[in-house]
Amino acid sequence: MAVDLLLGLQWGDEGKGKIVDVLTANYDIIARFQGGPNAGHTLEFDGIKHVLHTIPSGIFHKNAVNIVGNGVVIDPVIFKKELDALKKFNLDIKSKLFISRKAHLILPTHRLLDAASEASKGKAKIGSTLKGIGPTYMDKTGRNGMRIGDLELSDWKEKYRSLANKHEAMISFYNVDIQYDLAELEADFFKAVTELKELTFIDSEEYLYQAQKQGKKILAEGAQGSLLDIDFGTYPFVTSSNTTAAGACTGLGVAPNQIGEVKGIFKAYTTRVGSGPFPTELFDEDGETMGRAGNEFGATTGRPRRCGWLDLVALKYAVRINGVTELMMMKGDVLSGFEKLKICTAYSYKGEIIEHFPYNIEPENVTPVYTEMNGWKEDLTKMTSADQLPKTLNDYIDFLEKELEVPIKIVSVGPDRTQTIHR
Ligand code: IMP
Repeated sequence: MAVDLLLGLQWGDEGKGKIVDVLTANYDIIARFQGGPNAGHTLEFDGIKHVLHTIPSGIFHKNAVNIVGNGVVIDPVIFKKELDALKKFNLDIKSKLFISRKAHLILPTHRLLDAASEASKGKAKIGSTLKGIGPTYMDKTGRNGMRIGDLELSDWKEKYRSLANKHEAMISFYNVDIQYDLAELEADFFKAVTELKELTFIDSEEYLYQAQKQGKKILAEGAQGSLLDIDFGTYPFVTSSNTTAAGACTGLGVAPNQIGEVKGIFKAYTTRVGSGPFPTELFDEDGETMGRAGNEFGATTGRPRRCGWLDLVALKYAVRINGVTELMMMKGDVLSGFEKLKICTAYSYKGEIIEHFPYNIEPENVTPVYTEMNGWKEDLTKMTSADQLPKTLNDYIDFLEKELEVPIKIVSVGPDRTQTIHR
């Protein structure tokens, strides 16, 4: 049985959490493959909104097992908060949430290093969520990191101490004004580790291999989006992991020839949170309308998201790099009321019209070339089937399918589980 993937095709915040939750009914296992608590996966059902950061979005379904894969970085303090928020729902967490021994740990000093690094960059800062993601992946690739499996060893506190001491020296090297009380942070960390250790740690690559052999249906859940990928995103304004399809192979130990469907999620427009180039960004009333109607505020940091028209050049690039086989279009309802909609179909790049995503998309090099389409006025949020969708929205969808050469299988018309139209 192949492993299906689900990932974001833009700069994150496409609505992966909602769709994983909707699709979990068809899967036995949901396995998160990269990122960490920089993610904020929002799910809404029965009138309650849930935000998950590290825990996979299948957690609310009784029969699904949820796995935090080796490619994920885990902050025990944030993980504990997530677990605490789930307590009132009486989920049998211990039997349905497993953590890879090979996943790396975010230490309190990783978070401080993130803050120090960003502060030292001044205007060039990445706009990081400051959750310690970059420093933790640096320790992973630098072969200094601590893993979940280390917590099962008797000397883990010594390992912790020597890494934290090194981090403290590095923080002072940055020579920036970062106020912190490490003793307090460590007290929280050790308490959270104790709780984390009550969960089941597994060799997740072996678990997934056996599950596959038994015919279990597995969905790999990505975080962030393709344009934040460490290799293929808008470097250096990216996150520190491979958010693209290949990241699912390394982040779970699933071989490339075991990947089935690749489900790519995009918003009907574009958003970005944090710094970095964004060719179709709007600085006018249209952008404000999208932000307001789409409630575009970061689920992790609360920062307002930058908004702009759909960038088809970037979307095509993401579809190709990921080998997307099915698309899901989110937030079509947010565009209701725009008389005209613009879609960026090419870039004017250094005076030349190009249709591929170039090395450098800074505004001094790239100006978007737009195609205009008629908008729709209808409120989509109560629609339940594809035959109710307005003609102009179907035209928009047809245009995208033709350009992207991949079918759009789901149109989301609101944040709730039920506001999902299958085509
Ligand atoms: P970091 O991964 O927290 O270091 O952040 C690096 C960049 O990725 C920043 O621009 C963040 O705003 C962005 N980013 C990280 N995680 C997410 C996410 O889950 N959604 C959207 N943007 C994100």
